[in-house]
Amino acid sequence: MEKQNLDWANIGFGYRKTHASYVSYYKDGKWDDGAMTADNTVTLSEAACVFHYAQCCFEGIKAYTTEDGRIVMFRPDQNAKRMKDTCERLMMPVFPEERFLEAITRTVRENADFVPPYGSGASLYIRPFMIGSGPVLGVSPAEEYLFRVLVTPVGPYYKGGMKPIRVVVSDYDRAAPHGTGNVKAGLNYAMSMYPGQLAHAEGYSECLYLDPATRTKIEEAGGANFIAVTKSGKLITPKSDSILPSITRRSVLQIAKDVLGIEVEETDLYIDQLDEIAEAGLCGTAAVISPIGSVDYHGKRHVFYSETEVGPVIKKLYETLVGIQNGKLPAPEGWIYQVL
Ligand code: PLP
Ligand code: COI
Repeated sequence: MEKQNLDWANIGFGYRKTHASYVSYYKDGKWDDGAMTADNTVTLSEAACVFHYAQCCFEGIKAYTTEDGRIVMFRPDQNAKRMKDTCERLMMPVFPEERFLEAITRTVRENADFVPPYGSGASLYIRPFMIGSGPVLGVSPAEEYLFRVLVTPVGPYYKGGMKPIRVVVSDYDRAAPHGTGNVKAGLNYAMSMYPGQLAHAEGYSECLYLDPATRTKIEEAGGANFIAVTKSGKLITPKSDSILPSITRRSVLQIAKDVLGIEVEETDLYIDQLDEIAEAGLCGTAAVISPIGSVDYHGKRHVFYSETEVGPVIKKLYETLVGIQNGKLPAPEGWIYQVL
């Protein structure tokens, strides 16, 4: 199959229309059979619940071309499961997990020429999402829903790829204690746009949020989880009910422990403990593992390993994760789904 003729090394992280998306409608208490559509527009009632009360959620997965030309996805069953949890929290109907996997597989297959070639540094981003499409006026869940899967080729989420980024600790919160921080609700991202823009205007790549209850502990970034390597060589990551349970983070912890023999711990990580950290990074589907060069907190800069060089442990974790994702290194059982 001939790949699209795109400048793969420079496509960035943005939306590009592809051939077709998957669509399924929920009406009268059930999902229809679903179909592919070349129409990338959606027409809704002006009273659709999503417009007024933000009843929407999404997932993010990537597909890669392997060295031997196969197309694979990384742990999509975990995304199916997390979307189920999100839907339950937002009073939305669950799109059955096995159908979720069929839908994304079908969408990737129909857009196979958009899956970037092996070694290009790019991948195909898969974005399943669901909205409350039925009309409402009072605050209540919609009776009708739309589930769609769009795919689009992407490059690195943070400009420059595997280069240390600068982040700033935000004075805003993205999620409330006992709120929706632990699910992938669109509203969490709306909450992060204002602080995110403030940070970007000051030249930072991302905001780091503290725990909303005490504002003393690191939680996560606007679009990725936080990981750190202590000076004693342990990989640590915040333990909290108000951060998104990242599939990448879960995978990185397992790789660190089982493949690289690194001690790992999910624990509280206080913002005044930064001196104990040797290396830090952000991890997620879009972010992969992005090294953090420095973090600014109330006017004070803390540099981790270096503002220009990637630390050795973050580098090793990145290479191992990416090697597994693109089929170059052996993967733990069930992590790699072959699409084609
Ligand atoms: N945290 C937030 C807020 C995110 O948006 C994401 C992206 O999905 C992650 C963490 C990383 O999660 P995952 O590794 O499952 O992509
Ligand atoms: C992802 O990593 O898949 C996300 O959804 C994060 C988003 C900020 C792009």
